[in-house]
Amino acid sequence: MSSHTIALIPGDGVGPEVIAEAKKVLEAVGRVAGIRWEWREFPFGAQHFLDTGAAASDAELDEVAKTEAILFGAVGDSRVPERETQAGCILKMRFRFDQYANLRPCKLYPGVDGPLRDREPRDIDFLVVRENSEDFYIGLGDHFKGDRYLGKLSLKRRLYSADLDMRIEVNPPQEMAFQVGAMTARGAERVARYAFELARKKGLRRVTAVDKANVLTEIYDPWRSSVSKVALDYPEIELEFVLVDALAMFFVRRPEWYQVVLAPNLFGDVLSDLGAGLIGGMGMAPGGNINPEGGPSLFEPIHGSAPDIRGKGIANPVAAILAGKMMLEELGEGMAAQLVDRAVADVLASRQVRTPDLGGHASTSQMGDAIATRVLALGNR
Ligand code: IPM
Ligand code: MG
Repeated sequence: MSSHTIALIPGDGVGPEVIAEAKKVLEAVGRVAGIRWEWREFPFGAQHFLDTGAAASDAELDEVAKTEAILFGAVGDSRVPERETQAGCILKMRFRFDQYANLRPCKLYPGVDGPLRDREPRDIDFLVVRENSEDFYIGLGDHFKGDRYLGKLSLKRRLYSADLDMRIEVNPPQEMAFQVGAMTARGAERVARYAFELARKKGLRRVTAVDKANVLTEIYDPWRSSVSKVALDYPEIELEFVLVDALAMFFVRRPEWYQVVLAPNLFGDVLSDLGAGLIGGMGMAPGGNINPEGGPSLFEPIHGSAPDIRGKGIANPVAAILAGKMMLEELGEGMAAQLVDRAVADVLASRQVRTPDLGGHASTSQMGDAIATRVLALGNR
């Protein structure tokens, strides 16, 4: 019998609905695989912001830090500006816990109709590894309305701190804004190493590294050299660089080529939603925000809070359930993770219980029930 302490953050919108199903499935797999879960729930999100002035406070994150992993739903609703819930909760945890590798598997399961005609499920099965701590996500920028900007920007992050004194004049005078991206060699190297280790562990033979080095020459220069340097330690794995615009087309034209796709933060954000589209939509796409040096890592469906369908009981819980499966893997519960994956695959393949986004009429909880029941059946064999 093993036991794990998990921070549970259901959040807003459909977050609580899908997290309830993920928890149901994890409880089921716990019963057959001998795992005892200790859930510590945190009320982060929009309501918490309205009640306390912070979507997630530093003191509360100190408590989250004591857990082994985080299972997260989604945050954000129309009552609160997005930056308060997103920067104030999701990005805050990514930075605070240094979850620098964002792993987003894109796998088309049999029984799910992807949008690409003539494509078999086996054609679409790749892993996006998104750098999760740098690039245009560092939060350094400003916006001014006048003709001249005399500003000082400062930033403190784990990898560096920046103090920029800037003087910008705009002619003719007009409103202007800028946002700075940053990349350190160490930041690029550590996520590249994570991607190559992952490829090696899974027996994959190719890493495709993404950038826009033809135009954004400063920021993606250290990216290219750092990734190339790391690749030397993995001679059995081929490294290719592809520009992000071309890759967007290739994802659709030849998804079968891709195995591990390594991307800087912003391009990884975009490409992982494109990948989700290829596998049946946001309801199918899980992600892990991982600190490979020790947790807590955060697992989530990559869809947002979807306020438009909140409370209707129709959100697809598969992404959240697969996030639970990724969490099991990270906790070293590989057998249990496989069981959940089999159960998800079996339920999808039967095409009998499907939420509306997949073409069916099942509710969120019926879908969760079907997968939990299948877990028990497989586990008791
Ligand atoms: C994601 C989301 C987030 C991001 C937002 C909600 C901050 O789009 O996890 O992909 O941009 O990283
Ligand atoms: Mg995104």
